[in-house]
Order: sequence, then structure tokens, then C-alpha cells
Amino acid sequence: MTTRLVVPRPYRLDVHPIGPGEQGLAEDARAGLSASPKSLPPKHFYDERGSDLFERITRLPEYYQSRSELSILTRIADGLVARHGVSELVELGSGASRKTRALLDAMRDARSLGRYVPFDVCPEAILAAAGRLAEAYPGLDVHGVAGDFDRHLPGVPERGRSGRRLIAFLGGTIGNLEPDARTPFLESVAELMEPGDLLLVGTDLAGDPGRIQPAYDDAEGVTAEFNLNVLRVLNRELDADFELDAFAHVALYDPGPPWIEMRLRSLADQVVRIGALDMDVEFAEGEEMRTEISCKFTRPAVDDAGLVLEEWHEDARGWFAVSLARRP
Ligand code: AVJ
Repeated sequence: MTTRLVVPRPYRLDVHPIGPGEQGLAEDARAGLSASPKSLPPKHFYDERGSDLFERITRLPEYYQSRSELSILTRIADGLVARHGVSELVELGSGASRKTRALLDAMRDARSLGRYVPFDVCPEAILAAAGRLAEAYPGLDVHGVAGDFDRHLPGVPERGRSGRRLIAFLGGTIGNLEPDARTPFLESVAELMEPGDLLLVGTDLAGDPGRIQPAYDDAEGVTAEFNLNVLRVLNRELDADFELDAFAHVALYDPGPPWIEMRLRSLADQVVRIGALDMDVEFAEGEEMRTEISCKFTRPAVDDAGLVLEEWHEDARGWFAVSLARRP
């Protein structure tokens, strides 16, 4: 009897700096904390701790989005990969790459497992996921890119010459963009595609606030911890002195856009020092700072985003959708 040792191929990770001094956090904090109302972009939630907290969110009973999306991906992955000859997967906002396995399994079964490019703002999350996947899928070429969507998409490696590239933007992360920012963003994604390549987008669907709002305000308080984590990031990276106890988590469903808005409400009149910016920021008691929008979609809204929609798949309850678009 012989034992075959499967040696996973090495993987690669390119890290683009998003920290202080890199036109990332410092500029965003300076602009957002001096605006009225105050706001911070959601990408700064995701240091290693924030990425772990988000993983915990995906397992909460209230957070249906991840389970709904996985049920759709499991249903459509084989057909999609086989029909389109997908050999390369680029995942934007890959996090722990858990749902990715449905797509990679389909590529393996179709014998077209080529390359996986996880792109995420959190290098630690990519590193952990890349190691697990390189081991689980022998022969898979894993090339991670850590950076932010606004500036570092051109750092995605050149497309392989054979087969098709599938770009996956899952989890409803497109909902973090202001509606006006969607089209320019999708245009920058299209630069990574050749004609015939595909874009797979997950969107949380508009509907009953009684289902959506609790997904952002769970009983265990994990989402509150996640929201407050952005203050820890500012304390550490910008030498700030936010007292986490002096802010409360708020999640509001606004049916107008429609979107969920996460905010941090100041529980007192207070002044916060941001050492690295030489800045003192005043908060009034009850003042709310926006930390995230999470847009909820309808099918027409997805069409408006400038995608050429080819397929639309909903989960059984009609709560979440995965759409497939081609490069225009
Ligand atoms: C990762 C942006 C899709 O908007 O549902 C989860 C982030 N925020 N709970 C979302 C999030 C609060 C999540 N996305």
C-alpha cells in the first residue's frame, strides 16, 4: 500500500496598505468626524477582531442573509460553473471564504479548478482562509489581495488566458455603497473582466422590517460589539480615547431608500481626543454617528445598477437574491 502525500501549492498574498498615513483611516476619520452629521465608512470595522465578529454575525439566528445566500449558491453552483466554463474565481470581500466552497466544489467537480483570488480589506482573514483552502483544494492556485475596493482593484492579478473568470461579490456587501457609487464601482469591476466573464452579486431583498431590523440588532449583542469595534480601531490606530461604554448601538430600518442604517449614539456630552489627528471631537448627548448603510434591493434596483442581468435566483422565502451579470 502506498500513501500519497498531497502537498498543497504555496499561496500568495499581496497586501496594500490601508492603515494610517495611507490615505485610508486617517483621512476618513478626519473627514467623517468633522462632518455634520458625523459618519465613518464601514470598511474600518474589519480589523482581525472585526472580521471575527462579522463571522459570528453570520451564524446568528437573526442574520438570515448568509444561510439564504448559501442555499442559493449550493443550488446554482454546478450549473453555473459547467455552463460557463469557469476556471478562475475572484471574490471581493471574501472574509472567511465560507460560502466560496460551494463555487470551488463545483469548479473541482467540473475539473476546471484553476485560480482563486480572495480580495478583502483584512489581510489576517485572507491569510487564514487561503491556508485552509489551499489545503482543501490541492492544485488550487490561491492569490490573495488585501486592499480596499476604492483604490486597489487594479492589484487583482491578470486574468488567466484560458477559461472564464467569475467575479463574486457576495453577502450583500454591494449594499454598503451609496446608490450613486454603485455604477462607478461596477465599472471598475468590469475592468477586471473580459467579454464572456461573469459577475455574481448577492443582494439582501427589501421587505418586512420585522425580519430585516433584528438581523442588525441581535439579542446576543454581537452586532453591537461589531459596531463599537470601529471605535476600538480608532483608539488603536489613531491614538484616540473613545470610551466604548459611552456609545450605544443603533440599527434603523429606513423604508425610503430602503436601507438599514447602523449608528453609534453618544450617551453623554463628551469630547474625544484623536491624538494622531491632533483633533478634539465633540459629541452631544443623543447625537448619532452613522457607521454603515446596508441597502436592501428589489429586482429593478439591481437592473438600475448598470449590470446586464442574465440570471436572478432567490432563496425559497424570497429574502435574498443572487444575480448573474455579464460584462457589458
Ligand atoms: C457584510 C456589509 C453585507 O450589511 O449585512 C452585518 C455587514 N453589518 N451586520 C451587512 C453587517 C451589520 C453586512 N455586510
